[in-house]
Amino acid sequence: MTFGIARPPANSSAPMPLRPPTTTDLRSNINGEDPARIRATIARAPLFAALPITAIEDLTSRVTVRKVAVGSSVVAQDEPGDAMFVIMSGRIKVVMFGESGREVTLSLLRAGDSFGEMSLFDQGPRSAHCLAIEPTTLLVLTRDDLMRHIQAHARTAINLVSEMARRLRRADETIAQLALCDVNERLIHRLVGLAREEGASGPDGLVVRRRPTQQELANMIGSCRETISRAFNQLARDGLIIPRGRSLVVTPALIERAEKKKAA
Ligand code: CMP
Repeated sequence: MTFGIARPPANSSAPMPLRPPTTTDLRSNINGEDPARIRATIARAPLFAALPITAIEDLTSRVTVRKVAVGSSVVAQDEPGDAMFVIMSGRIKVVMFGESGREVTLSLLRAGDSFGEMSLFDQGPRSAHCLAIEPTTLLVLTRDDLMRHIQAHARTAINLVSEMARRLRRADETIAQLALCDVNERLIHRLVGLAREEGASGPDGLVVRRRPTQQELANMIGSCRETISRAFNQLARDGLIIPRGRSLVVTPALIERAEKKKAA
């Protein structure tokens, strides 16, 4: 379902309203989403960091809102792409499937993250599937709107290039790890990465609120569940990680071990 901020098409000959929109107009246009929340999501998104207020306002006027249920596909690999997305709330998994159905998780995205921009620039098909792993609310920006926005606000284009460079750097790291590191080291690196990305400080270390399943960890580091199970349980026995209910504590000792390995 797509909820839009109603806007006449660029070349529309529709007469302009005779009065400025009222609060009621704005609320019905965005189907219950608070315009201030939309603006705040854009202003806080790393992709739109350090943009002038005029650029934030321009983006706010162009996006629409889409709500997706858990398990839904937002982007399907190999399909043509005509819009990109910013996550307002919820989580998205970027994933590719092999012919056997085996999956590799490329990234887990959360509020403020963006996706779906690659096919808007190279005109190729979608490079991966993007699935909602929680009930998710998205801001949707079409290719035409993004291009018009960039023509007036070049800073956004620089931010997009920075984001793609960051992603390429991460992909390089993953390729190097697959070639050079054993499963144990890859698992440690991913657990520490997860803790840094989404962990909250606790008395025993960084607490990852939603512990990934062993199958999810296997999909993230290119291994199988049984191997991950052995490596994960050994780390827990050594006291380097502490599974606690649905959460996971990543201890400072594990973080130190990952850093030492990197420096070696
Ligand atoms: P697009 O190819 O349009 O659709 C799939 C999206 O997944 C892609 O744009 C990116 O936004 C996102 N994506 C693809 N590969 C990665 C990756 N390695 N890390 C994070 N996001 C990715």
